[in-house]
Amino acid sequence: MKISIVGDEAAFDQAASSRIISQIIEKRESVIGLSTGRTTGNMHRLVVEQYRRMQFDVSRVTIFGLDEVMNVPRTYAGACYTMLKTEIIDGLELDDSHFLMLPTESEDWNTTCKHFEEEIDRRGGIDLLMLGLGENGHLGFNQPGTPFESVTWTSQMNEELEMRIRKETQLPSCIELGGVTLGIKNIMHARRIVLVAKGVNKAEIVRKMLEGPVCTEVPASILQLHPNCEFLLDEKAAQFVKHLNPNKNED
Ligand code: GLP
Repeated sequence: MKISIVGDEAAFDQAASSRIISQIIEKRESVIGLSTGRTTGNMHRLVVEQYRRMQFDVSRVTIFGLDEVMNVPRTYAGACYTMLKTEIIDGLELDDSHFLMLPTESEDWNTTCKHFEEEIDRRGGIDLLMLGLGENGHLGFNQPGTPFESVTWTSQMNEELEMRIRKETQLPSCIELGGVTLGIKNIMHARRIVLVAKGVNKAEIVRKMLEGPVCTEVPASILQLHPNCEFLLDEKAAQFVKHLNPNKNED
């Protein structure tokens, strides 16, 4: 396992954005999957800042979203589509044919999910997947208990996240929320993964992900088995990882 620890939040955002930029520079037609949320917004904005400075070629890149909130309009501030568009897609001047997203609404989710996977495959598969980490260990919307063989599907939200999205987006309680997401199997097929986690609220789940058993109760623990996964953490998120802190947590 490759574990990289950076000191503070600014250094973390910088390091995370550099993973995306170097991928684009190394392979112009890269297919890159991104996650949304509190962890990843700054790093996306830094990619745009660097693009404006360096003008690296993004004309052949495909960026896609790992997951999407179901049953909200795409234009909702909390929809992953809108978040990614505002944070990175518009800034990189990517047109829609280079930006793949699962829809927020569908009449036939099975077909929609299948088409999404086929489109990623048609472009050569995933070169880099930047993964956020849920406080309960989820990846995308693959909640604890999700089978490791899952492929793109419609899942549940955890209660806490649902409350947050409802609050952030003022979504009325009569609209049911869910999450459509790449499955664990799709995630594991990415050629390269960078798991990003920062802040003290992720410290306990980071420890379980890295040091606990590989089990469906902690979906992110499967990443221990990925041959090319980097765990990029800030010091706060890494604080309970014992083998990095041999003098701490000796219980
Ligand atoms: C949500 C998103 C995930 C993201 C996770 C972490 O569940 N669907 O893609 O990785 O939250 O979010 P945050 O960075 O805000 O903790």
